[in-house]
Amino acid sequence: MTRIRVSTSLDRDDIREVHLCAFPEGEKQIVSTLAVNLLSEETSPKTISLIAEADGAVVGHVAFSPVTINDNKSWKGYILAPLGVKPEYQKRQIGSKLIGSGMEQLSKMGVNVLFVYGDPNYYGKFGFDADTASRYLPPYELQYPFGWQAITLNEDVFTESTAKISCVDSLNDQELW
Ligand SMILES: CC(C)(COP(=O)(O)OP(=O)(O)OC[C@H]1O[C@@H](n2cnc3c(N)ncnc32)[C@H](O)[C@@H]1OP(=O)(O)O)[C@@H](O)C(=O)NCCC(=O)NCCS
Repeated sequence: MTRIRVSTSLDRDDIREVHLCAFPEGEKQIVSTLAVNLLSEETSPKTISLIAEADGAVVGHVAFSPVTINDNKSWKGYILAPLGVKPEYQKRQIGSKLIGSGMEQLSKMGVNVLFVYGDPNYYGKFGFDADTASRYLPPYELQYPFGWQAITLNEDVFTESTAKISCVDSLNDQELW
């Protein structure tokens, strides 16, 4: 039985551990630091951080932080990062539940577009695609441009041809892109 709940600062060490276990050697330090930093970063609108619990322990985590474009105040965007599930709990729909729960909350908040930078084979299952993201330029040049994807949660009110995305401080690091 998996339970999804909003994380608190008391979950900090467990969240770090999830990403240290989930990500490969070269990425695990920077990703776990990102996950922990996002927990304490004050953002407006708020950053959503969710954990999955199973067998009485934290086994998965996802965060969604706000992104902005130019001075457009009527457009609401978020980015999903990071997402990790402990290896022994993978392939049990826990990642799917974390993403689904976050998307439900963001949809209700009136968010227009949700971005992700990750494996299209995985995120494609949830409706993310490169086409939706193509008008929006990420904050940094991407190491893997094919990983830049987005999904429209509420009708997209941004009508101009392109815009550059700004992200929260914790994500504002070239090494994460
Ligand atoms: C990616 C990750 C979060 C998936 O978590 P999970 O709980 O195993 O995912 P789910 O069980 O919800 O998988 C949903 C579907 O995606 C598939 N899937 C799982 N991992 C996948 C991957 N790496 N690539 C493609 N498909 C994948 C599953 O088979 C499942 O397919 P189905 O619905 O047809 O059965 C987890 O493997 C992980 O933590 N990986 C290491 C960290 C990482 O890469 N994070 C994402 C960074 S962008």
